[in-house]
Amino acid sequence: MLLFELAIAIAFAVKSVVAANTAATTMWFDTSNIVPIGNGRLGAQILGQFPKETIVLNEDRIWSGSINDPNNKNCPGVLPQIRDFICLRSFVQGRRFIQRTKYTAGNLTLTFPNAQVSNLNHSLDLNTALATTTYEANGVQFTRSAFASHPDNVIVMRFTASSGGMIQFNAGFVTPMASPVGVTRDGGILSST
Ligand SMILES: *[C@@H]1O[C@H](CO)[C@@H](O)[C@H](O)[C@H]1NC(C)=O
Ligand SMILES: *[C@@H]1O[C@H](CO)[C@@H](O)[C@H](O)[C@H]1NC(C)=O
Repeated sequence: MLLFELAIAIAFAVKSVVAANTAATTMWFDTSNIVPIGNGRLGAQILGQFPKETIVLNEDRIWSGSINDPNNKNCPGVLPQIRDFICLRSFVQGRRFIQRTKYTAGNLTLTFPNAQVSNLNHSLDLNTALATTTYEANGVQFTRSAFASHPDNVIVMRFTASSGGMIQFNAGFVTPMASPVGVTRDGGILSST
């Protein structure tokens, strides 16, 4: 069973939690840009968008065809072509015959209430591997932070706002997998196996 765990913590912070982060190791983007985080097994690409945020999720065992099997079973039949590619040092083309295609687990989509947004800032701190998106809407400062934990094997996202009761979004999940097995929603927990 493949279990993709994503913990979403929502903190209804009353005070602004945005600390000025001036670390020399922080990369800042003032437009939507892909910020990657991962722990070796789980990966997420955070686009930093508003009002619809997309988080592309990856898990290292998901390949076309089946889980945990990157080998292309048709490989023996195309051995001559693979040899030709290797002789020509065209490793990328050759690998396509050997390996299956890496698939994403799917996209987590978060749709926030539409609003005029200013000061969108999207960053990745290379020291702490913390991805942060900050913006202001209707006079409220919003922050989304995310990191991938190796010991806990989970990707965590935290949402905070400078005023209470301001965090609202709809979460959805789209996947390229032909038959995702069961998506269940129970007590605010969305789980997919
Ligand atoms: C984003 O944060 C950086 C670092 O604090 C700052 O230099 C930049 O002006 C900010 N950009 C916006 C659009 O707030
Ligand atoms: C996930 O989002 C990325 C980036 O927007 C997009 O290229 C990709 O097609 C999306 N995948 C699915 C299954 O919707």
